[in-house]
Amino acid sequence: MIKLVNVSKSFSQFKVIKSVSLTIDKGEVHGIIGASGAGKSTLLRLVNLLELPDQGEVEVNGQKLTNLSSKELRRARKSIGMIFQHFNLLANKTVYENVAVSLELANYPKKERRDRIIECLQFVGLKDLIKQYPAQLSGGQKQRVAIARALANNPQVLLCDEPTSSLDPNISAEILGVLENINKVLGVTIVIVSHEMEVIKSICNRVTVMANGEIYDTVSTEPIGIHHIDKSPSYFVEQLAKAGEMDDA
Ligand SMILES: Nc1ncnc2c1ncn2[C@@H]1O[C@H](COP(=O)(O)OP(=O)(O)O)[C@@H](O)[C@H]1O
Ligand SMILES: [Mg+2]
Repeated sequence: MIKLVNVSKSFSQFKVIKSVSLTIDKGEVHGIIGASGAGKSTLLRLVNLLELPDQGEVEVNGQKLTNLSSKELRRARKSIGMIFQHFNLLANKTVYENVAVSLELANYPKKERRDRIIECLQFVGLKDLIKQYPAQLSGGQKQRVAIARALANNPQVLLCDEPTSSLDPNISAEILGVLENINKVLGVTIVIVSHEMEVIKSICNRVTVMANGEIYDTVSTEPIGIHHIDKSPSYFVEQLAKAGEMDDA
């Protein structure tokens, strides 16, 4: 479903992704974990060519994106949704309009837009908030809007960059539940970037560990379920201690 072959990316002289190869199967929930600065976000943005690779090939859904014209790439991108840590909603548009924008950009048939927007908002449990503006929503609700927007064009793949990193633990679990549903019910292949092991462990089938722009390992896991997420105070203390050790190293 997703195939990266010897992909490299530099910013100025700094090589951020170093000849990475990775294959993600259809229907997988694939986690990418690593410390801050490891190159996780860049790798994710290489999958939909938001970042252009300096070298290597990117294939999604049987199409070599790196070979496409910009027009063909725009079309191919419809089947790749993306969500972010800070939601990236349009502040001056309502919930409904935020989802509508995605359909407008994709030239979705006009007559079918309204039904599709309602359907997507219903799927994420937000049908009653369609007239609200982002500022009136909680973090979890904002992420649900972003998910509805990402789903609007029926993507085959959903890319998630730290989707729960600015949310409280119980809200994180809710959002991961929504993502799990999207995978199970809609059959969407999901890639989740996170620096939180608990998040990755909860719903991923396979996990790729990144460090310094390289893949350290990819392992299969048994998703342990979202109810096991426990970001208790001791968890944070542990994470901070680990981060401190890495800074010292
Ligand atoms: N657009 C950019 N311009 C310059 N440097 C960048 C850019 N994007 C990322 N970087 C650098 O690339 C490295 C990897 O960043 P990123 O992919 O965001 O890592 P992660 O998501 O794992 O924290 C970091 O050192 C970051 O500063
Ligand atoms: Mg990042």
